[in-house]
Amino acid sequence: MDGNRQTDDADAQAKILVVDDEPGIRDMLSFELSSHAYKVVTAVNGEDALEKLRREKFHLVISDVKMPRMDGMEMLDAIKKLDPDVEVIMSTGFGTIETAVSAMKKGAYDFIQKPFNLDEILSLIEKALEKNELKILLGVYETSKAVLASIKLDELLPVMAKLSVQILKADDASIMLASPAGCLEVAASAGLSGADADKKKACLALGERVAGIVAQSKAPAIINGPLENDPRFHGIQSLSSISSSIVYPLILEGELLGVLNVNRTVQLEAFTAADLRHATIFCSQITQAINNAALYRRLEDKILEIQNMEAQLIQSEKLAAIGQLSAGIAHEINNPLAGIMGFAEVVLKSDTLSAQQREDIETILQQSKRCGNIVKNLLQFSRRKKGAEKPTQLLPAVDAALQLAGFDLRRAKIEVVKDVPPDLPAVLGDQGQLEQVFLNLIMNARQAMEGAKSGKLIITGSAEGGLVTLRFQDNGLGIAAENLGKVFDPFFTTKPVGKGTGLGLSISYGIIEAHHGALRVESREGEGAAFIVTLPACKEAPNGQL
Ligand SMILES: Nc1ncnc2c1ncn2[C@@H]1O[C@H](COP(=O)(O)OP(=O)(O)O)[C@@H](O)[C@H]1O
Ligand SMILES: [Mg+2]
Repeated sequence: MDGNRQTDDADAQAKILVVDDEPGIRDMLSFELSSHAYKVVTAVNGEDALEKLRREKFHLVISDVKMPRMDGMEMLDAIKKLDPDVEVIMSTGFGTIETAVSAMKKGAYDFIQKPFNLDEILSLIEKALEKNELKILLGVYETSKAVLASIKLDELLPVMAKLSVQILKADDASIMLASPAGCLEVAASAGLSGADADKKKACLALGERVAGIVAQSKAPAIINGPLENDPRFHGIQSLSSISSSIVYPLILEGELLGVLNVNRTVQLEAFTAADLRHATIFCSQITQAINNAALYRRLEDKILEIQNMEAQLIQSEKLAAIGQLSAGIAHEINNPLAGIMGFAEVVLKSDTLSAQQREDIETILQQSKRCGNIVKNLLQFSRRKKGAEKPTQLLPAVDAALQLAGFDLRRAKIEVVKDVPPDLPAVLGDQGQLEQVFLNLIMNARQAMEGAKSGKLIITGSAEGGLVTLRFQDNGLGIAAENLGKVFDPFFTTKPVGKGTGLGLSISYGIIEAHHGALRVESREGEGAAFIVTLPACKEAPNGQL
């Protein structure tokens, strides 16, 4: 074995620190190891060695055990404290085997005896370097295994950024994520001062600065020295404080998720091809983690959707049961009511009635009519008559409802702001029924703003993703939290007897449901309420052109 460590890239040269007080040994090792493609730095004693280790990163230290000032054993302790990853080979003269053994107990990789057998040294160095490499990889796997257990991206990414700094022995790192808008935003960073972190908050377009270019080309980059000299990043001003960077695209199944930036600023040591290999493995872990988090989020959304559907189902079942009950009652009441009203009208025709009697019978008629209205509502609610299914424009339906409520709204001095685009996609349904829903919502809003100083009803329309949405927002009383779940229940009302039937919203709910849409409420007590109608846009008339 010739021990020649062939490297595919000069950058990947392993760096060895030779520590010996004898100049002859330093020169010999320096010459021999350099000729085998290692980069060698020498130190004359322990203090000198520590000084150099503090400034640069070495993969391996070969040190004499016996030296003046600080001996090899003391130095070994100090080295391991400074950088536990660096491997140390101790060299000993005859008769110091015991020292060598205790050195290994303290974490030295191995020892060699003087005078040196060069082949032995080279083979030992190679093994030590392999171990060093494996240790780093193991670190990557271990840490990322732990990290992958976490699911929430906002917890995960800062840890990932910190690990990037540790594993790649960098001074700072940031993880940028591609936003839906197509630019890169810093999602987490480590090692940056507050001001620097703020500077990096900005959103980079693809192709903009180094990260943007790496994102666009999807090719990782090591950048050493000023950017001006690098043809890949022509025209980009380098940030003066950075001495070396790795910029790595995070890609999952060909799709760009973001970019990892790792920088050395304090350390002057350049990143090597070996560092890039570590970054490759580490980035695949980050990518997996981001993907896991996204899958988890989708799962959460799904769960929420199912919960919503459940709530809707319960609501529909409740409506159906009450519908049957009220249909029965309505029929029972309808006939006697017709009798009462018929006879009252007959009596009213008589000439012998006193003024007082006439007034009393008028009251009977009036109250019976109210009963009749309630029964009519009940029947409508219970039958849930299937309406027409025609492409229907929402703006005319809103306008019709506003016109019906117009007198009431003006009397209550309510300002109405209507922002419903006329080209809103049409929906498939029954204009009359939809008008009834809008009228209910408008009248409820009006009642909730009763007596308010500056009542304001805002009606907005919008369309997105095949759905048309109308929002009725008022600044009235709002709805107490404990009532939010009840407002769509039949007969639920907070209005005084005679003022509310508690049927408006449940009827509206039923109508919107029959239109394959959804009616929901957002409100807080004292802060107004918003009722939101969502309906599927009509496919036959995508632009509302009928
Ligand atoms: N815009 C609104 N602001 C505050 N509360 C509302 C609003 N709309 C409906 N509500 C609440 O929902 C209840 C039920 O409404 P609804 O079914 O229309 O019946 P009613 O209007 O006859 O009471 C109301 O009594 C009220 O408490
Ligand atoms: Mg109502």
